[in-house]
Formats: sequence, C-alpha cells, structure tokens
Amino acid sequence: MNDIDILVTAALPPFLKHPLEADYRCHDYASSSDRDALLARVGQRIRGLVQGGGTVTPPALLDRLPALEIISVFGVGYDGVPIGYCRERDIKVTHTPDVLTDDVADVAVALILMTGRGFVRANRFVRDGEWVRRSPELTTKLAGKWVGILGLGRIGKAIARRVEAMGMHVAYTGRKPQDVAYRYVPDLVSLAAEVDFLVVACPGGPATRHLVDARVLAALGSDGTLVNIARGSIVDEAALVRALADGTIRSAGLDVFENEPHVPDALLAMDHVTLLPHVGSATHETRKAMADLCKQNLDRWFTERAGLTLVPELQ
Ligand code: 8YV
Repeated sequence: MNDIDILVTAALPPFLKHPLEADYRCHDYASSSDRDALLARVGQRIRGLVQGGGTVTPPALLDRLPALEIISVFGVGYDGVPIGYCRERDIKVTHTPDVLTDDVADVAVALILMTGRGFVRANRFVRDGEWVRRSPELTTKLAGKWVGILGLGRIGKAIARRVEAMGMHVAYTGRKPQDVAYRYVPDLVSLAAEVDFLVVACPGGPATRHLVDARVLAALGSDGTLVNIARGSIVDEAALVRALADGTIRSAGLDVFENEPHVPDALLAMDHVTLLPHVGSATHETRKAMADLCKQNLDRWFTERAGLTLVPELQ
C-alpha cells in the first residue's frame, strides 16, 4: 500500500502516526505551514484522509481531493465530517466506536463523583493544610439521586450501568424509547426538571447544537448539575456560564467545551465546576485500540474493500 497517498488532518499519537507512515505515503496537513501549496502538490492523488474525532473537515477541503475514497476518523465522534456530501461522492467514512465506551463512561461517573462529593475541593483542602484548621465541608449523597441521560447510545448505556451500581436511578431522553428498564422522558426540558444530574452523551453536530440551552438549565434547577462528556457544541456555553454564575444550576462537570482547548475565563474562575481537558478516551489502552481500528479501517478498504467500521449513517 506504499503507493497510496493519505492526508492527515489532525495531530496523531506516535502509535498511529508511525504505522501509517510505514504503510502509506502520509502528508501532514495538520502541521503544514502552507496547506494550500500542499493541496496543490498532492491533492489530486489523495485517496484516504485521517482525522480526529473533533476535527472539522469542510466540503471545500474535500473538493480539492477528487480521488478521495475514505475518511478514517480516529474517534467515535464524526460531527466534523460532512456526511451528506460524503454520501453523494460515495466517500466511505469510518470511526472507532466501542473500544472507548468504558473509558468515556468512567469519566462521566468521575464527574458525577467530583461535582456531587466535592472531591476536587477536598483534595485541595488537604494539600493546602486546611484540615488541621477546620472540618471538611459536607457534600451530596449520590445513592438515591436521579441521573438523566441525554442520548442512550453505547456510551449512555455504559454510564447508566455504572450509576445504577452506585444506587442511583436512571432516566433518559432520545429520539424514541428503547427496550431498557430505565425511565423514558420524551423531551429534554422535562428530563432536566426531573433529575439531579443531567449527563450529555449524544452525538455532536448541527442537529444537536445548543440543545442544552437556558431553558433546559432553568429546568435542571438550583439543585441540579450538568455533566458533559460528549461535545461542547451541544451545550450553549454562554448560557451555562450565566446559569452557574447566578445559581440557576448548582454545578457542572465538563470534559468538553465549545472552543477547545480554550475554556471561558468565567468557568476557570468558578470553584463549583470541575473541568477536564477532553480526556474521555485518553488512556494508553484505549487510544492504542482506537489507533489500531483507525488504521485497520484504511487497510481493509484498500485491500479487501470490506469489514469497515462505517459510521451509522453510511451503513
Ligand atoms: C478523542 C472523542 O479524544 O472519540 C471521540 O470522538 O471525542 C475523543 O475521545 C478524539 O476523538 C481523538 O481524536
């Protein structure tokens, strides 16, 4: 496959970059200082594109890759890929689901624990030497509380199983009720009103942009906490900052943001939010499994034309 040209549009870890470079002619678009010149030189020859889950791939870029056959996403999310455009041009789009489900669900549970039980503040309390001066604060019991999941897909279900094991109750919303024992609530505002923790676990992209808005946050209420492990675009971040500042909601645990890696100063200054740098799938084991699957999808396409992990819309 050494004669196949691949465009790489995201910074990749060495355990994906090196195997790709061993088998393909890779062109580093992500760190190129003159992208236009790179496309002018190799655009016509590019047959595969590798990108990250959050990478935005505009149709204008794809227009310059007339021989493109496949986009292999290193991630489960592919909200930056113009799926309709790819369908029209019959460009295959693959991603890396399943292998990261457990890790991302773990982060959701961690954010519930950190916001509910105040573990980040408690850690700082000990390190700052406060413990010898006064007692730690009391926090919120989690068992018996309700977790509302927006998007009961693979990751949403893994979150549900974990919080159930902690004695929490689960409700969810989504396009339609599923054959599960959890309570289905048909609309997001009602779900938010019913639960203590609202966990965002649905896909990103135009269809879900700002689904969690001021109305949803008002319904979640002053005892409610928002947890987002999906995509920053799903939450209206300006409305979230306002809701946290004026006590409309109690707290938030966020692994994703609208403009990563930039986090609004207002959030950085708040003590009652927990902020993580998009580490949902960031373990050695999972990133390696994602890398293997990302490359395997390319290899399979260029050898067997079969066995791809296609995104659901193209299956
Ligand atoms: C990854 C993610 O960090 O899989 C996804 O869609 O959001 C992340 O867990 C990212 O995709 C790596 O490129």
